[in-house]
Amino acid sequence: MENSTPYQLLGPEGIRRLADEFYNAMDELPQAATVRAMHARNLDEIKDKLYEYLSGWMGGPPLYSDKTGTVCLTEPHAPYWIGPEERDQWLLCMETALDRIEASDNLRAMLKTPLFRIADTVRNRDESTPRTNDPDVIAIG
Ligand code: HEM
Repeated sequence: MENSTPYQLLGPEGIRRLADEFYNAMDELPQAATVRAMHARNLDEIKDKLYEYLSGWMGGPPLYSDKTGTVCLTEPHAPYWIGPEERDQWLLCMETALDRIEASDNLRAMLKTPLFRIADTVRNRDESTPRTNDPDVIAIG
C-alpha cells in the first residue's frame, strides 16, 4: 500500500508483536547484554510501554502520550548511559524483532532512517560505556 503509515501496515496486533519480540531479542542476544542489564528482570511492563509508544510514533493512537502527557524520551532515559554502542544494541534488537515478525521490505525501508534517528536522539553520551578492562582504567581495591 502506497502512502500507508507503519500503523496501517502492522495494526495494533503487529505493533504488539514487534514490542514483545524486541524485548525477547534483548533478553536472548548476547550482543545486547549491555542494554539488557539496564532493564528490570521482568520485561512485561516495558513491553507494554514500548507498544504504547510505538502505536503513536507509527501513526496510530497516541497511547503513551495519553498516559504520560509527552512523547519526550529524554527524561526517562536520563539515568542510563546511552552511547553509540548502546544505541546500536537497541537497533539490533529492533532489526531482530522486525525479522521475527516477518516485516515486509517496504515496512523495513520505511522505518530504517526514522528508527536510527529516534535511537540516536535517545543517545545521551558520545562514548559507549567505559570498559573495566580498558587499559587506561586502573582498578581500585
Ligand atoms: C538507544 C538506546 C536505548 C536504550 C539503551 C534504552 C533503554 C531504556 C531503559 C533502561 C529504560 C527504562 C526501563 C525500565 O523502566 O525498566 C527505557 C525506557 C523506555 N524506553 Fe528506551 N532505550 C533506548 C531507546 C529507546 C527508543 C529509541 C525508544 C522508542 C522508540 C524507547 C522507548 C522507551 C520507552 C517508551 C520507555 C518507557 C519510559 C517510561 O517509563 O515512561 N527507548 N529505555
